[in-house]
Amino acid sequence: MLLKVLRQKDLFLLEINAMKFESPCTNQENQQSLRGLQQRFENLSDLCTLKSGYALNRGCPPFLVFEWFSLKKTEYSSQNQKKTLPLQLINDRYNNMGKIILTGDRPTGRLHLGHYVGSLRRRVELQNEGNYDKMFVFIADAQALTDNADNPEKVRQNIVEVALDYLSVGLDPEKVTIFIQSMIPELTELTFYYMNLVTVSRLQRNPTVKTEIQMRNFETSIPVGFFTYPISQAADITAFKATTVPVGEDQEPMLEQCREIVRRFNNIYGEVLVEPEIMLPTNQACLRLPGTDGNAKMSKSLGNCIYLSDPSKEMQAKIKSAYTDPEHLRIEDPGHVEGNVVFTYLDAFSTDDDFREFWPDYQNLDELKDHYRRGGLGDVKCKKFLMKVLDKQLEPIRQRRHEFEKDIPEVFNILKKGTDAAREVAAQTLHEVRQAMRINYFDDLSLIQQQAEKYQ
Ligand code: TRP
Repeated sequence: MLLKVLRQKDLFLLEINAMKFESPCTNQENQQSLRGLQQRFENLSDLCTLKSGYALNRGCPPFLVFEWFSLKKTEYSSQNQKKTLPLQLINDRYNNMGKIILTGDRPTGRLHLGHYVGSLRRRVELQNEGNYDKMFVFIADAQALTDNADNPEKVRQNIVEVALDYLSVGLDPEKVTIFIQSMIPELTELTFYYMNLVTVSRLQRNPTVKTEIQMRNFETSIPVGFFTYPISQAADITAFKATTVPVGEDQEPMLEQCREIVRRFNNIYGEVLVEPEIMLPTNQACLRLPGTDGNAKMSKSLGNCIYLSDPSKEMQAKIKSAYTDPEHLRIEDPGHVEGNVVFTYLDAFSTDDDFREFWPDYQNLDELKDHYRRGGLGDVKCKKFLMKVLDKQLEPIRQRRHEFEKDIPEVFNILKKGTDAAREVAAQTLHEVRQAMRINYFDDLSLIQQQAEKYQ
């Protein structure tokens, strides 16, 4: 028996023996929720059982996805060799079929712990789990310019800093396409068309844009580019048909705006674009890591960051002066862990293993918190523990960074290769977009013919 799990471009998931379902899924089949196909499958029920299926519209023509299936025989072979694939693996592979992960960062400074727990750490896990079709991570320099127009040098200098941070946390250019946003002009063209699908008042209601405008004191002198960056972000996401965007919760309004653009585009011009989902950090403390000063957000402009590239000494000094509980004056006083930066960082970083290794007086963070709340536990001890926890996670990152710093031209080479690969994908989407909008005039023979006839 030959069973092949095909990829999305092949239209169908399963190819069994000599039986191939080659015909593109018709609209009818699509609507009949695959009943016809299910019947065809029943004939093969000694091999597999089709539980249910649905049609996924990704470009043209649509292709079919089976919701769940099980193999009764797990043994099957490729042409020459016999091989047994565990059912779980097939299911995993199927479940992640068509999953495209994409995310990016503005290069306005080195990346810090907020970026790390909010997104970077998860990206590396995703990369290593390998349950995706493609993964893109990019440096959003064009977006950074929307509020740094007068300081392109800042953006320019930070390209390599962010690239070094990516590589040092363990993103692997073999597995992830790393690229520079502004080097892909297709993104700006998409943005230009999407602009017609969004109203000014909708942008004004975007909560992230709202707070950012306040933070930057733009008020009414907002640069148009900055005001419209959610639209350009929708282009970033849709150009790669990303399904999954791992970002912090502050990006939720961007994703919502993007989905609206996708729906509107597909509605007007036909199904081309894919609605993305946000992938939030699972740990509450990671949703938004506070700054060392206790401010709700770790942010470069607030000067309350611990950077991934900070040497151990610098990190330790920042923890030493970090905000804890202002009412916890003497050791015997009861303390608060809520709003206490040290405990929030421990929430985000520490594991039970860390307690075993560095502080066996406690089994886990809950025990430590209980003691702190009761009183009798000083901040200094907690901070010392936190420093060890952080050093353990950051030291391998610092080491890798030092290695890459020795060959900066190679870092640019990695970016160039990634950008070339990404550009091909974006160009394909732009092609589909122009085709759907019917503005691909020179390729549109029917238009040429129609116009010619009109003047006959
Ligand atoms: N706005 C994001 C940030 O500030 C960066 C970004 C730009 C992005 N384009 C994106 C993130 C597309 C995810 C997907 O962090």
